[in-house]
Amino acid sequence: MATSQVVIFGASGDLTGRKLIPSLLRNFAEGALRDDIQVIGVSRSEKSDKQWRDELDAWIPASLKDAWVTFRAHLTWCQANSANPEHMEHLEHHLDSLARDRGARPEEVGRLFYLALAPSLFDPTVQALDVRRMLECTPGSKVGWRRVVVEKPFGVDLESARALNQALLRYLREEQIFRIDHYLGKETVQNILSLRFQNAIFEPLWSRKHVESVEISVCETVAMEGRRGEYYDKAGATRDMLQNHVLQVLSLVAMEPPSSMRADAIRNEKVKVLDALRAFTEHDIMEHVVRAQYTSSATRDRGYLDEYGVNPKSETETYIAVRALIDNWRWSGVPFMLRTGKALSKRYTEVVLNFRTPPLDLLNGPQPGDVCPLRPNRLRLLIQPQEGVRLSFLVKQPGAGMIMRYSELGFDYSDLETGETPDAYQRLLLDALEGNATLFIRGDEVEAAWRFVDAIRHGWNHSSAPVHTYPAGSMGPRIANELYQGCEGTWGTGPEDA
Ligand code: NDP
Ligand code: BG6
Repeated sequence: MATSQVVIFGASGDLTGRKLIPSLLRNFAEGALRDDIQVIGVSRSEKSDKQWRDELDAWIPASLKDAWVTFRAHLTWCQANSANPEHMEHLEHHLDSLARDRGARPEEVGRLFYLALAPSLFDPTVQALDVRRMLECTPGSKVGWRRVVVEKPFGVDLESARALNQALLRYLREEQIFRIDHYLGKETVQNILSLRFQNAIFEPLWSRKHVESVEISVCETVAMEGRRGEYYDKAGATRDMLQNHVLQVLSLVAMEPPSSMRADAIRNEKVKVLDALRAFTEHDIMEHVVRAQYTSSATRDRGYLDEYGVNPKSETETYIAVRALIDNWRWSGVPFMLRTGKALSKRYTEVVLNFRTPPLDLLNGPQPGDVCPLRPNRLRLLIQPQEGVRLSFLVKQPGAGMIMRYSELGFDYSDLETGETPDAYQRLLLDALEGNATLFIRGDEVEAAWRFVDAIRHGWNHSSAPVHTYPAGSMGPRIANELYQGCEGTWGTGPEDA
């Protein structure tokens, strides 16, 4: 990789300290970033290079302190309002002179502009860079490239996402835009692709013929953490998690095999799945979607409505469960049970494929006895915090009679002894620097996901769908169990589930 500059707009913020710098540092410590990497922090605050580096000290994990001593010298600060083209001139001089210091010609240095900014600044920042012609580069060139990483949320609905796509495309080509969803950087999420497409045994079973239902649960114990109320009250679980992380996982689970591992081949298939998601009408919303808010409980004295920054009369959902349907040849009629929520009793993310039970219950016969009733075989992909795969099936319990019990074959990432799983941002930053967009979201994907989510929100606005409640520290409202009616299985209970 030729000399690269990572320009972080919003570098005095939380994301930069918590994720971006530690991830760049880890890549550097592991030798994935070359010694000529330059990181430039930008925000309106005035500070010296040393001040910025010192502020970042607090975010550096103990295991990386040694590498930090060297890496911090690669960081410089540039005070600028990213929406002001005149300030961009100052930034350009800063970047050019850093390049020359390294003996490189500025036009040959690759530049990654990372928008770690409030979404309202995405368009003005790109526009300001364009005024200075700082985004121009030769298509496909390995040197002098210009790329922009756009953080989430990408719009608040289909209309705003479309407008943002159009705005960005005025100044950039699609291949220069890297829309980030950090779930795609998680090793275990990427493993969905390798499990499905590098193994011959799963794919023949991976369809309506054998799968009864699919569950995707993203359960969180965290709530508003005292600081997120204001943002969250405008977003809710649907915009904050379902539209992006949950639907991205769904698209990897449900997509057709791509013709290659090229970014567009994969993204073409993902977008087809998102397009095939049935958009609910206000008439079927009650049957397919449950929304709820956490209340105070024995484990937590603040309910959602008591949180700082939250409107005390808010109807924003902190939990959503959906029985989604994908209207295509492979998945027609198979419910995709999606669930995500805050302040739940357990933190875990997993995907479960519930397979169809055998056509005959031979052991129980026509008169059910006391042997174990049929249960679906399940393939569970444990995404986090436990990372692995489980396949469960019924086996005969040793001894007299034919008593059945559930058993599991399992794989844990920790058994590979490859050390700590890299943070999602570590992988994504490297891919963006290398120009690999496979794990980033294309414009049409974002829009397809919003189309599905907008229909849910429209349904809520035009129906009497209630906002249920659940005690903080529970697994959500009981009524969500009704979404499973008519199909085998129930919501899983987490990694220790058997
Ligand atoms: P913060 O509010 O912590 O930081 C944003 C920074 O932007 C501020 O430090 C501010 O610094 C700077 N800023 C504001 N206006 C300008 C401007 N005109 N020009 C240059 N800099 C400016 O936000 P976060 O770091 O939390 O989030 C940044 C983005 O990342 C958001 O889009 C968010 O949704 C997304 N994100 C964040 C996550 C997180 O964990 N924090 C997770 C997922 C996404 P100053 O006042 O000095 O200008
Ligand atoms: C963020 C959401 O995108 O993802 C947060 O804004 C959520 O609300 C977080 O907590 C979850 O990410 P992870 O990696 O901790 O599962």
